Amino acid sequence: MKPASAPRKPPLPIEVRGSARQPLGMPPAQFLRDYWQKRPLLVRNAFPDFVPPIAPEDLAGLACEDGALSRLIRHDEARERWQVKTGPLAEADFARTGDANWTLLVQDVDKWDADVAALLEPFGFLPDWRVDDIMVSYAEPGGGVGAHVDQYDVFLLQGLGQRHWAISTDPDAPRDFRPDIELKQLREFEPTHEWLLEPGDMLYLPPGVPHDGVAFGGPCMTFSVGMRAPSQAELTGDLADYLAERLHEDQRYADPDLAPAKAPGEIDAAALARLRQRLPFAAELDEETLRDWFGRFITRYRNAQTPALPDRALDEAALRKQLAAGARLQRHPWSRMAWSRGKSGCTLYANGQAWPAPPALAKQLCAQREIAPGTEPPAAALALLLALVNDGHLVLRKARRR
Ligand code: SIN
Ligand code: CO
Repeated sequence: MKPASAPRKPPLPIEVRGSARQPLGMPPAQFLRDYWQKRPLLVRNAFPDFVPPIAPEDLAGLACEDGALSRLIRHDEARERWQVKTGPLAEADFARTGDANWTLLVQDVDKWDADVAALLEPFGFLPDWRVDDIMVSYAEPGGGVGAHVDQYDVFLLQGLGQRHWAISTDPDAPRDFRPDIELKQLREFEPTHEWLLEPGDMLYLPPGVPHDGVAFGGPCMTFSVGMRAPSQAELTGDLADYLAERLHEDQRYADPDLAPAKAPGEIDAAALARLRQRLPFAAELDEETLRDWFGRFITRYRNAQTPALPDRALDEAALRKQLAAGARLQRHPWSRMAWSRGKSGCTLYANGQAWPAPPALAKQLCAQREIAPGTEPPAAALALLLALVNDGHLVLRKARRR
């Protein structure tokens, strides 16, 4: 007898109905568990009898203010061209818009208008610092910003008129941009879901969901409650600055345990271990990352100048010919080199750049100011020498004719 399989859970609905008591159509805890940062949700009637807290004329007035962040976007459908004018806008900009295919977007309207800011109250279940702003758009029929992807969660509340929304929940949908347009529109967009939103309806989108909203039938206003999500790069950069500000100038790289160098220029395991001990988050880094960062950093550190590039770049055949004729390669005085060997092989560093290197050549380049590679350097060595010559680290000294 087969054991009874656990009853299948029904799939979560993508569309629910809200009410004055439950703008998300469910308790916040359930929304956070099932939808937040996970899947889109359309809430019909999220804000029953919704009346926009700002009039289109006042939004246009705000778009003309000096400090307001605004964009006027026109779509020429026939030629598939998009025109973007960034604010502050002038009255004359609105005179040319016509009655279709354009939209005005103003960011941070909650900071300018207390009635708009009051729309944030139902989002109090989210940490306040997670909320970025309310962007308000006004569009005439056909107006929109084109299919795109946002990096932040957003609640798109329909304020006035109707907007047709199309989204794609396909995790494999292509997300590359059209190259020509500053709006970062998607090159391809195949919707999986489409809806017509009425005033008071709200569409929640987690980051990364392709979407396209187009004003339908008449004037349209949308209130976008957007979240703030710093990138890991921003967080790391700021954390490093924060920690650095608190370190004293006397706290420096130190190596009282230094043993005589086995090979000049080597960044060895002992050097990396000292960094791990002393730097706030180096202990967490894998060996290769720490090595690569330090190799680049230390060969850039306190360099007042950079090596001069040669007048003309050489190709491999020309370099081989010169070397066969007895040319020597001299290190440029402003070139600062180091090398290191790790799991992924040997790397040569020079003034912040890194190249895979044959270990013997890396050692030789760091140990000698001038080398004579001879007639037939192996292919990997020749490729490295060519890169170093063309980046100015090695200067070709032709053999004297007798
Ligand atoms: C809008 O046009 O109001 C919405 C912008 C968006 O899709 O993020
Ligand atoms: Co968007």
